Amino acid sequence: MIVLSHFQANPLLQAMKKGQDRVKTSLDLGLSSASLCLEQEQLRFPDGQSLTRDQLAEIADNELVCYRIVGSQIEKIQFFSETFNRFYSLMPTHGAPTMLISGIPMHRIKGTDPHQDTLSKIKAVTPVTGTVLDTTMGLGYTAIAAAQTAVSVTTIELDPTVVEIRRLNPWSQTLFTQPNLHRRIGDAYDEVTTFPDSHFSRIIHDPPTFSLAGHLYSTDFYRQLYRILSARGRLFHYIGDPDSKSGRGTTRGVVRRLQEAGFRRVKPYRQAFGVIATK
Ligand SMILES: C[S@@+](CC[C@H](N)C(=O)[O-])C[C@H]1O[C@@H](n2cnc3c(N)ncnc32)[C@H](O)[C@@H]1O
Repeated sequence: MIVLSHFQANPLLQAMKKGQDRVKTSLDLGLSSASLCLEQEQLRFPDGQSLTRDQLAEIADNELVCYRIVGSQIEKIQFFSETFNRFYSLMPTHGAPTMLISGIPMHRIKGTDPHQDTLSKIKAVTPVTGTVLDTTMGLGYTAIAAAQTAVSVTTIELDPTVVEIRRLNPWSQTLFTQPNLHRRIGDAYDEVTTFPDSHFSRIIHDPPTFSLAGHLYSTDFYRQLYRILSARGRLFHYIGDPDSKSGRGTTRGVVRRLQEAGFRRVKPYRQAFGVIATK
């Protein structure tokens, strides 16, 4: 799988312009590096595929989407979900890519990047040990990070179209190979009812915004999270910028409803834009 973004395409075009015959780049959005042959008007990949200067220029011009290379053609990594009537695309950053859901980034990218954003969510419930629930999979970054120290991680995703994007994201590949990672497709609201009492030692709840998934912010849902969390187990709940008007209001409501559901030591955890709580 070869995936490129403007972060690779721009320097490649520069190298072509300068007449270089070899160039160092990354074919997996910065995870590893590769040395490629450059010809005057063509970039050659180790697997025999090639791209023209025009194709590279098209990738370089688009800062919002990553491209995969298939049969020497470029294809945007974006899909329309018929079920949910939304557009999903893989958006490059200088580190791990994020996903745009109808134009809204799925991770924090202002002053941070999706990888750092993930680490701050994980830190909120460190040490991440035992059995972990990641309520919403997305690109799988929180699940992958949790699986490094947990015994097992279960992660849930509502929209199969997200899975298509994830399959094409080099940074999500461990999700398909890590043996202690279990994936489910479904609505987290329903899926949580299927787990036994006190099953998880940690829960990472990283839902879409309140306006897109209000039921994942409801007292009923929080009661289920409380039921399936073990005694002294810990929850991290992502909410959004605590300094924005909507973030402030949502945080107040979340804290109140988590307390109603039985959680204690419910407090904002500003560094990860969320709230932490204990059973
Ligand atoms: C903020 S993202 C999660 C990001 C994820 N933590 C990661 O590391 O990439 C939210 C995800 O929840 C999914 N989602 C939305 N509603 C859901 C639901 N009811 N149950 C499970 N997943 C849901 C969305 O499709 C999206 O992929």
